Amino acid sequence: MTAPWGPGRLPPRPNTLVGREDTLLIASRLLSDRRIRLLTLRGPGGIGKTRLALDLAYRLGPDFEGGAVWVSLAEVRAPSEVVPAIAQALRVPSQACADLLAHLESRSLLLVLDNFEHLTPAASEVAALAAGAPQLRLLVTSRAALHVRGEHELPLGPLPVPGPLESGPVGPAAQLFVDCARKVDIFS
Ligand SMILES: Nc1ncnc2c1ncn2[C@@H]1O[C@H](COP(=O)(O)OP(=O)(O)OP(=O)(O)O)[C@@H](O)[C@H]1O
Ligand SMILES: [Mg+2]
Repeated sequence: MTAPWGPGRLPPRPNTLVGREDTLLIASRLLSDRRIRLLTLRGPGGIGKTRLALDLAYRLGPDFEGGAVWVSLAEVRAPSEVVPAIAQALRVPSQACADLLAHLESRSLLLVLDNFEHLTPAASEVAALAAGAPQLRLLVTSRAALHVRGEHELPLGPLPVPGPLESGPVGPAAQLFVDCARKVDIFS
């Protein structure tokens, strides 16, 4: 049985990304900076971290020889399961951190760790991967920073709303609201 996603594959995008052009640009620049190996998209629940990371993975994946690999951690319960979850996504048979590092150290890859906030005790292992694999870029989405050496944080705030006196096209927040409302099937 093939995994739902793995090397070269990403989850489907659930909708069109609304707004976030500036953040996409900044995150893309940070992830193409050779000095930055670990970027955390940090913000409160529901703000759009996962959604933004998905578009970043689609956008930047082709820049990496090994593409972008998505590791969903929302259902992972224990910090000790983080490395095995990464190994599984990469199809590395061993679940030991040293073996994972040996696999990653010469690979060019964008690895997305989605929904990390409840697993912060595993941050040191993530930092070790980042430190030991020069062509690896880690994009982490989390409600809390990892607070490890080498981490760069990109805080994500709410989508902008137009001020009361502004006229013209609706802002991204209203646009997303309209997109979601259109999707609701009132007869279901
Ligand atoms: N800019 C956006 N464009 C389109 N849809 C968005 C945008 N931001 C958020 N959404 C939608 O809003 C919902 C919540 O976003 P998302 O899951 O990315 O939040 P999150 O910050 O990752 O939350 P959590 O911390 O709970 O994981 C999702 O259905 C997502 O598709
Ligand atoms: Mg999320």
